[in-house]
Amino acid sequence: MRPYVIDQLISAKAIAARIEDLAREIEAEFAGTDKLIVVGLLRGSFIFIADLVRELDLPVEVDFLEASSYGDTMESSREVRILKDLRSQIEGRDVLVVEDIVDTGHTMTRVTAFLAARNPARMRTICLLDKPSRREVAYRADWTGFEIPDKFVVGYGIDFAQRNRNLGYIGAVRFIDEPAVTTGPI
Ligand code: IMP
Ligand code: MG
Repeated sequence: MRPYVIDQLISAKAIAARIEDLAREIEAEFAGTDKLIVVGLLRGSFIFIADLVRELDLPVEVDFLEASSYGDTMESSREVRILKDLRSQIEGRDVLVVEDIVDTGHTMTRVTAFLAARNPARMRTICLLDKPSRREVAYRADWTGFEIPDKFVVGYGIDFAQRNRNLGYIGAVRFIDEPAVTTGPI
């Protein structure tokens, strides 16, 4: 593999602060519900969903869905397949879909259509990161943690070829034979 370094883009502290704000907005949206199911997309959202549900002062159930991903490359496959379905029934339930990154938009477009076909009472979506400049299909989550530039990022659950999910912060991959990044931290 080409050698690379990771430049910190979003600190653990900034992520935690943003999740607190997002949790208050989600609580307001779902106030009074006793049927919320929080659906994380495997594997990239596993740390985000863990931190988010612990901030939520709501009764929640948690389930997971897995859609096909990049494999070990940096390129979107565009053809999104559902690899692992939910265990729970979502018909008539309130659903919050939790994703790590919206990039081209294909994954969330496909996943939300797949879940909407089961007639949940209400479905909302939250993505930790959004790269609007990369969009190929129009898609916007109801809540976004941070908009980021067109960089390949890792950490806080997000991988590059399955590595670096365990970093506490979000960092950008920079190959060491490339020029240094010009933008500073967010
Ligand atoms: P989309 O279908 O192109 O929107 O891709 C979304 C998926 O691609 C996300 O769930 C991530 O798994 C993956 N992805 C997009 N950008 C990155 C990145 O910068 N680092 C790691 N994975 C990414
Ligand atoms: Mg993913």
